[in-house]
Amino acid sequence: MKFLQPEWHDKVSSTNTVLMDWLKDGVTIPMGFVLAAVEQTAGHGRYNRHWVSQSGLDLTFSFLLYTKHTIEGIASLPMAVALGTAVALDTFGIITKTKWPNDLLVRKGKIGGILCEKSNFLYKEEYAVVVGLGINVNMQEENASTIGKPATSLRIETGRMYPIKDVLDIILEILPHWIDRWEQGGFPSIRDDWIARCCHMGEHITVGEGKNLKSGILEGFGDKGQLLLRGDDGYVRDVWTGDVE
Ligand code: BTN
Repeated sequence: MKFLQPEWHDKVSSTNTVLMDWLKDGVTIPMGFVLAAVEQTAGHGRYNRHWVSQSGLDLTFSFLLYTKHTIEGIASLPMAVALGTAVALDTFGIITKTKWPNDLLVRKGKIGGILCEKSNFLYKEEYAVVVGLGINVNMQEENASTIGKPATSLRIETGRMYPIKDVLDIILEILPHWIDRWEQGGFPSIRDDWIARCCHMGEHITVGEGKNLKSGILEGFGDKGQLLLRGDDGYVRDVWTGDVE
């Protein structure tokens, strides 16, 4: 895939919402279209959690992807995007880890997140998926500490400030390789790289959503990117959604 020149907007509700609305309204959006916002007024993540970003200081953007994968296959797309973005962020001299299914961490702090939303729009039998990324670029410690969960930024990690457009360019340069690999071979084609980067492999974790939490050892990842959890009874179970704690 190739990304088009990003289209920058000063202020939008959410770059994901704008692209999803355009698709619903029948607007034809080309593959690789990138919408970036200087400011989002209603940025959100998984489970509709508020996404904190500072106007002009942090990176918020979404792009459009058409994929031949089924709904089940698309479950691992955030993992491919997280992996590619982690590789891109490492070029700033930090060590970026991934956390299943869509988080980017540096040390124990979240530096970025990915939100993939599949639309019902089919073009030549390919689903249109909106992929949104939020990266904490120039967020300062005092803002990061208001998020409620450990958070960090490129600035906190390196002591330097970065133009958000430069960070976007680097991500857009590196991501196609990972998305192409995923498109061709699905999660199995990126599994080894994912495992080498992801947190908590072999550790005792709690995973799930709401009250539906399960504990066990993080044993690995299945062919669709589902988490494999070995319970106390010794059985390995597939986990498809939720957060790892
Ligand atoms: C998460 O960690 O749950 C995912 C966060 C995704 C945030 C990005 S910012 C750009 C795009 N627009 C949104 O409203 N969300 C995504």
